[in-house]
Amino acid sequence: MAPPFRKPPAAPPVWIAEKTWQEIESTGTDAFLAAWSPGLRLERWGRTLRAIATRPDPIPCDDTLLTPPPAFPWKAKRVIWQVEGEKTAQHLLGEGWSTEVAELDLRYGIDLSPGSAPGLFPDQRENRIFLRSLRPASLLNLFAHTCAFGVLAASTGATSLNIDTSARALERGRENFFRNKLADNNHRFWKEDVRKALPRLVRRGETFSAIILDPPTFAHGGSGKAFRIEKELGPMLLDCLRLLAPRGSLLVSINDSKTRPRDLETMVRSILRQKKIAARLEPSRRPPEVPAIRMPTGVWINRED
Ligand SMILES: C[S@@+](CC[C@H](N)C(=O)[O-])C[C@H]1O[C@@H](n2cnc3c(N)ncnc32)[C@H](O)[C@@H]1O
Repeated sequence: MAPPFRKPPAAPPVWIAEKTWQEIESTGTDAFLAAWSPGLRLERWGRTLRAIATRPDPIPCDDTLLTPPPAFPWKAKRVIWQVEGEKTAQHLLGEGWSTEVAELDLRYGIDLSPGSAPGLFPDQRENRIFLRSLRPASLLNLFAHTCAFGVLAASTGATSLNIDTSARALERGRENFFRNKLADNNHRFWKEDVRKALPRLVRRGETFSAIILDPPTFAHGGSGKAFRIEKELGPMLLDCLRLLAPRGSLLVSINDSKTRPRDLETMVRSILRQKKIAARLEPSRRPPEVPAIRMPTGVWINRED
């Protein structure tokens, strides 16, 4: 592999421990954060290694930076170098942008071309493990993206309603259901603004035994109005609590660096008090390889009534 840059980086990424690597693989997972430093992260996507540099320059690399430590039980077949936010990326090894990966023994289609979201958020893996342990009868998957939470719930026998404004994301979600032989009439896909869908679901009196509320911090509204988390979270949370069945569980996860876990918990507790809902809160789960500062802020609300 030819070294594409001249200077060495300030801090080379630290690879996760081999034991952690093997423990993750033993869960039937081959998509996860492989190495990390503040300026550079290396993501494993099946047989592909994707390096994401946070600055365009000098962010250099040499072979040793992108190669696992000696004796590591893995070698990349394809290596992609991407500067965060840039519209181009380069192959340092291999070619092509798409692949299929495994998470928790389920398969997902991945698109690593610059400018598009890969199609799976590995930092939510432990929350999917928790969801699996709940064995919900029904899942409401809000901001469903490519439906990873929906596929997971479906694999344990749940029905699912997946809602997202992006037709492309939902189409990839449907493909993920097909990929895992889970596509049947038990799963609905609504291309819609969550803010419009929620009040309608409340009016209809539908309830769900698990709900995932994982919105973006900001999204352009398309034909509707722009989405801003600080304004939208409270009303959406209220609707979700109306839709949560007794003994149901709701994950609220937000990617807003301004909101600390304590702020989110305080807000949730105040809404629960106001609505007289008994619930046990627990922090959302973090995969062992993901540094705490790279995690979204999240809380599981487990209804006790
Ligand atoms: C952070 S991703 C969700 C990740 C997903 N929960 C997962 O684990 O794969 C955010 C998603 O929200 C969608 N989105 C943004 N604004 C929306 C809105 N107002 N209503 C519905 N979906 C929206 C985007 O299209 C995107 O797919």
